[in-house]
Amino acid sequence: MSGSLVVTVDGPAGTGKSSVSRGLARALGARYVDTGAMYRIVTLAVLRAGVDLTDVPAIENVAADAEVGVGSDPDEDRAYLGGEDVSTEIRGDEVTRAVSAVSAVPSVRTRLVNLQRALAAGGGRVVVEGRDIGTVVLPDADVKIFLTASAEERARRRNAQNIAGGLPDDYATVLADVQRRDHLDSTRAVSPLRAADDALVVDTSDMDESQVVTHLLELVTQHAGVRR
Ligand code: DC
Repeated sequence: MSGSLVVTVDGPAGTGKSSVSRGLARALGARYVDTGAMYRIVTLAVLRAGVDLTDVPAIENVAADAEVGVGSDPDEDRAYLGGEDVSTEIRGDEVTRAVSAVSAVPSVRTRLVNLQRALAAGGGRVVVEGRDIGTVVLPDADVKIFLTASAEERARRRNAQNIAGGLPDDYATVLADVQRRDHLDSTRAVSPLRAADDALVVDTSDMDESQVVTHLLELVTQHAGVRR
């Protein structure tokens, strides 16, 4: 378990990216960086400041001062804004609805990308998860993984989560939303979602979480010569 190893995991929502990245970090004895949480923390700061989401200069001001903190233990999901634990609040509907607008602001991305690079540079093993990690944040990573799953399968998983959370069963609406977001994510001007040319693309449609983790561990072992 020695030496430095940087693994990036990118892909759209609904591919099981977060649980799988945590599982991979755990299996590798690596630190884990959740970059989506960082965009969510800044979004919470923007919402708390009462800023209009179309007011880009105001978003930039709040984002420039927000003190963003994330834990690096894959077994803990901790997020901090100015030292306050906001782990639960950043997963709420309000933040989820507003985060696309905030994460589309170029200066927000520049600041968080710098922070993400600093976190990844700590040495040892690290798994960094997001949308643009292999393409923009850490293009020299040792192993780059891009997770995919069909829009239908991602919608099925999200609909099941909704039902478990007490929301109505509405597969057709969820599927339309997944397709709309795929289109927005892959066509946006700043850091569109795409696999790096040297990424290993893994389709998770027909695999459960533990099968994906096992598969990724094999890929990392092969491609980085890592000892387990
Ligand atoms: O993975 P998540 O749902 O927590 O991500 C929250 C939002 O942040 C999502 O809209 C995509 C965006 N994001 C991004 O633009 N770049 C990243 N590296 C990570 C997340």
